[in-house]
Amino acid sequence: MAHIIGGVATSHVPAIGKAIADKKQNEPYWKPFFGGFDFVHQWLQREKPDIAVFFYNDHGLNFFLDKMPTFAVGAANEYHNDDEGWGLPVSRSFAGDAAFSWHLIEALVADEFDVTMCQEMLVDHAVAVPMQLMWPNAKEWPVKIIPVSINTVQHPLPSAARCFKFGRSIGRAIESYAGNQKVMVVGTGGLSHQLDGERAGFINKEFDLLCMDKIVSDPEALTGYSSEKLVELAGTQGVELLNWIAMRGALTGRVTEAFRNYHIPISNTAAATMVFDHQPQPQRKAA
Ligand code: DHB
Ligand code: FE
Repeated sequence: MAHIIGGVATSHVPAIGKAIADKKQNEPYWKPFFGGFDFVHQWLQREKPDIAVFFYNDHGLNFFLDKMPTFAVGAANEYHNDDEGWGLPVSRSFAGDAAFSWHLIEALVADEFDVTMCQEMLVDHAVAVPMQLMWPNAKEWPVKIIPVSINTVQHPLPSAARCFKFGRSIGRAIESYAGNQKVMVVGTGGLSHQLDGERAGFINKEFDLLCMDKIVSDPEALTGYSSEKLVELAGTQGVELLNWIAMRGALTGRVTEAFRNYHIPISNTAAATMVFDHQPQPQRKAA
């Protein structure tokens, strides 16, 4: 069976993509953020995943406010990147695994998550920037991706509890796939940030650190927040935390924190990176 080796959570601020394009990783503003990826690179080098399931939010590239699925799953063998207006260079495309995607979709629908199935899907900076952060020097992307888009843009958003259960369903589906792929899960976005309105620039370090603790040891504690409370505590775009919560839901076994980095600010965002190790729950022997 396919198995989940662990997860990575990271902010996906477009300015990071610009800094990569301009080779600014070692400049004083950027070093504290990019330095946090040394560990991620070693971890990926050691774990060598075959597939990365990406929990992210589309920012108006593939979906817009006129048609906004709550949960959408890519079911293609290739995904193109494009820039929805940040001025970022377009990344080379990403290989998918349509058969693996359909397995996840079948399992999700069986679990009553009636997802939008996307046989064509553009992916934005919320996928491309983390890919470039994780594999900065790759000539070819070493993983196939399964993009899983969660609406964190147009209210009403799915609740944190629903996102956690959605992740759980995907985690179970991954581990029931008849293959021997090593799968990592990725949650992108966050942590606290607000790009618009009177509170533009809002960051809540105390809440971010609480989330980073709870997401390891007690993720259910994060599922009690309503969307409105998350906006209040994390900012209008800080609700991207939902992608982290879904990613954590997919880690159904024993989870340990392998690494964290937290740096304020990158652009308008509290930039956070975490790595999670995952051991599947031991199968109970039949009595
Ligand atoms: C920023 C953060 C985001 O999550 C995003 O999608 C776009 C911009 C920012 O802080 O600039
Ligand atoms: Fe974002």
